[in-house]
Amino acid sequence: MLHLTQRVYLILGLVLPTIVAAAPTPHSAPLNLIQLENERRIRFNDDWRFFKGEAEGAESPGYDDAKWRTLALPHDWAIEGPFDRAYNANTGGLPISGTGWYRKHFVLPGDAKGCQFSVEFDGAMSNARVWLNGNQIGERPYGYSSFALDLTPYLRWDDENVLAVRLKPEPDSSRWYPGAGLYRNVWLTMTGSVHVARWGTYLTTPDVNDARATVAIATEVENHGDAQAAIQLQTNVLDANGKPVAHATTSGAILAAGKQRISQQLEVANPTRWDMDQPYLYSAVTEVVQSGVVVDRYVTPFGIRTLTFDREKGFLLNGRYHKLQGVCNHHDLGALGAAVSWRATERQLQIMKSMGANAIRTSHNPPSPELLSLCDRMGLVVMDEAFDMWRIPKVKNGLSKFFDRWYERDLRDMIRRDRNHPSVIMWSIGNEVPEQTKPNGGQLAKRLTEICHEEDRTRPTTSAFDNPDGAIKNKLADNVDVPGFNYKPMSYARLQQEHPKWVIVGSETASCVSSRGVYHLPMKLEGKTADLQVSSYDIEAPPWAYCPDVEFEAQHQLPNVAGEFVWTGFDYLGEPTPYGGRNDWPSRSSYFGIVDLAGFPKDRFYIYRSVWTDQPTVHLFPHWNWAGHEGEKIPVMVYTNAQEVELWLNGKSLGRKKLGVDTFTMPVNRNVSQEGTFVSKFRLEWDVPYAPGELKAVGYRDGREFAVDTVKTAGAPARIVLMPDRKAIAADGDDLSFITVRIEDQDGNFCPLADNLVKFHIDGPASIAGVDNGNAASVESFQAGSRKAFNGLALLIVRSRNGQPGSIQISATAEGLQTGNTRVAAGK
Ligand code: GAL
Repeated sequence: MLHLTQRVYLILGLVLPTIVAAAPTPHSAPLNLIQLENERRIRFNDDWRFFKGEAEGAESPGYDDAKWRTLALPHDWAIEGPFDRAYNANTGGLPISGTGWYRKHFVLPGDAKGCQFSVEFDGAMSNARVWLNGNQIGERPYGYSSFALDLTPYLRWDDENVLAVRLKPEPDSSRWYPGAGLYRNVWLTMTGSVHVARWGTYLTTPDVNDARATVAIATEVENHGDAQAAIQLQTNVLDANGKPVAHATTSGAILAAGKQRISQQLEVANPTRWDMDQPYLYSAVTEVVQSGVVVDRYVTPFGIRTLTFDREKGFLLNGRYHKLQGVCNHHDLGALGAAVSWRATERQLQIMKSMGANAIRTSHNPPSPELLSLCDRMGLVVMDEAFDMWRIPKVKNGLSKFFDRWYERDLRDMIRRDRNHPSVIMWSIGNEVPEQTKPNGGQLAKRLTEICHEEDRTRPTTSAFDNPDGAIKNKLADNVDVPGFNYKPMSYARLQQEHPKWVIVGSETASCVSSRGVYHLPMKLEGKTADLQVSSYDIEAPPWAYCPDVEFEAQHQLPNVAGEFVWTGFDYLGEPTPYGGRNDWPSRSSYFGIVDLAGFPKDRFYIYRSVWTDQPTVHLFPHWNWAGHEGEKIPVMVYTNAQEVELWLNGKSLGRKKLGVDTFTMPVNRNVSQEGTFVSKFRLEWDVPYAPGELKAVGYRDGREFAVDTVKTAGAPARIVLMPDRKAIAADGDDLSFITVRIEDQDGNFCPLADNLVKFHIDGPASIAGVDNGNAASVESFQAGSRKAFNGLALLIVRSRNGQPGSIQISATAEGLQTGNTRVAAGK
């Protein structure tokens, strides 16, 4: 193994034998000595001390934190609960406010003296203040901003350092569940005194054709030394296999304590485009060379692609037309809260993609860096959103409190952090800001758009308007490049007609509400009901909103509208519309999701899949367990992309219906139609007198059977079946297996009403990361060893242990049911 000093200087290329010789011997290495790898930055997540509450003097290095809890980041203290009606249901009924302290003790070797060290927070929720060895080194109010702080001036060498972070999220600071704590990754960065600045590369591809692509790279190089530094900047572009495909070297001189932007232009021959179906990534490896030695290396993944928003043609990626089939998502990961997890984020995106989604809106804040890296790899495009409000508050203690002081910094930082991601296609400067109707709203939008353009000329700005007339009158809409409209499909044609140059997008659509597996009879608009659930016939929406069909109709009629972003892909914690009032406890999370909080698709998933994909889809609902309703007519629906569907009950045909011809008339809010009805071409419906047995829908295309779905009347719950989404995971302490818990009768039929309490037992190197069942009105803890099934399903999330490979045996028991077993392998 290389000695630390050798490794430090190897990275930095500064081979200084005398310092190597003077290094401390390994056996004298103090506790908490940071193992500096051969990397520019390392994770700084382990061994933090945490205390929830006021802790006077905890910023001082000598403060005694021995009794504090030791934990690894990312950490969200609010998801630990408990739920309480005293907390706001709109922020999840969880303890999202108060004071939380984190402290980390660490030692750096004396031979790293002379290097620059900084700590990077991908996000800290919220009102962060940070001290190193008792010296305040920075603050950041906005919990979604990524920020870095220089540690170098206050570091001690070969001695203990204490980094202390105080977070003070306020009540009434968010319209949804924000999480609380150091909920994203934290990094330690080490460089020499001359290095590429943080987020210091900016890559664009101004000219792309089949034969070649021009890659323009602007690199900011900093010099923290007290003498001018002569450097060479070497950039190598590598293809996805790591093969060099282009190279540039440029000489420069960086003034002492100065920085300089160096521009380079490279040509990549026969470029492979980054696209939705082939998200091909290149990387630019930037090296700073001083006196022939590489002193810094900075890697930027990027894609070669073109974006066009065209009034006539709509949205084009690499010249090819795509409707944006987007979803808005909040950042929480259900039972895991806001604590960032690569795998949980990837799973969310995989579920969205399997439905045909090709776009994500990061409502209403900068996302985790992991989400963008995943979208880069998965071919999803992103509307990257900065703010939910500007100066005028939507909640008492929201970001408006510090907007004036911080907006420029927050916005520039978001763009600098995110502008090399090929997935990002537009910058949203705000969602439904109340400034839409205020005289100076246009001015502020102009300023924010200017900032975006200064940082990135290649993507349009947008903003989401729920009050188009206000935003048009005060010129706010004219001061973004692609105006976005929330819940206005009925106005797209008029807006286009009145603004012949605009390219518009449905920045927020639908807001249909439902609870997975819940059906109320008769089918009608209900608003709130005593069970705190929402019937899943997909006709229910709040007064400003509507069901998916209404948006499909408008988008189909107007191909040049860039597309839509459904509210929402996933259910999220908080904002339990139509509930959330004083008497609605324990309703505490949203009903808007196409997928529930646990990740189980609701029926709506299949109407999107039918319209958004060609995957053969016939989805039949509701369940067929209606004891007591014999002979009563039950509305039966089918979501499909077949041309015709025949419905059968117990072997008897109930007739065929044709999609687009046999329409379904549904009740809607007055914002959609004065008559209060809408005729949908996107679903089929039968009224079927109930008799237990088997209901079957057979879809046909071109006269041939295309897809089939059946629902069967289930008997009493008899057994538990465990279905892991992945049977092999990495033994790295981060990886997860999501295990679906399904209750079946003795013949293997799904029990759609089962609510058994299921207890989990784990044998092997893993722990329970969370449990859920998608019930928006449950106050069972997300961090428990048991969970009730909700309409037949529950979810167990299992996390591996770092460095402990092995077999994980999982079993699930419930009174009166046959035990369920499964095995997951944790490997290297
Ligand atoms: C919109 C808002 C979203 C969410 C949604 C619910 O007006 O932008 O954040 O609140 O309503 O329908």
